[in-house]
Amino acid sequence: MSKHSIEMTVNGHRHSGDIESRISLADFLRDGAGYTGVHLGCEHGVCGACTVMVDGKAVRSCLMLAVQANGRDVTTVEGLAADDGTLHPVQQALLDQHGLQCGFCTPGVAMTMAALTSDGKKPSEGELIAALSGNICRCTGYQGIRRAAAQLIASTAEEQI
Ligand code: FES
Ligand code: FES
Repeated sequence: MSKHSIEMTVNGHRHSGDIESRISLADFLRDGAGYTGVHLGCEHGVCGACTVMVDGKAVRSCLMLAVQANGRDVTTVEGLAADDGTLHPVQQALLDQHGLQCGFCTPGVAMTMAALTSDGKKPSEGELIAALSGNICRCTGYQGIRRAAAQLIASTAEEQI
């Protein structure tokens, strides 16, 4: 199979590779670039564990080919915290509200929340929870995740005041 040269920015760093067209973005991020915070559950677009941001939008990286991300700006869960280790508001809300147990779904949950609240976007709590219906969690019963969504919305509302 022919190979394609690709290059993308991941969490502010340039990554390139010569890859077969069948390679998913998830596999490129995990195996080619070392971002193993991108979790793979179902590998067919159902569970949301592999969610990353591509040019600011939430994307299921198991359903996107790496060649489609050529030249794009990708953010994984490893790119959320500040360089000094300060947690992103989404991470802080999940921590404060015990929004995780085993943590397998958490990178996808965090990236869905981060995408909806990036660049000053102000979704309602209902919109955020509706978006999170695409992230399957086998542990939490979702109550902590819902509380985290509420905290996040409250904190973005406070920023407006
Ligand atoms: S691994 Fe991509 S949606 Fe489940
Ligand atoms: S915390 Fe275990 S799958 Fe969600």
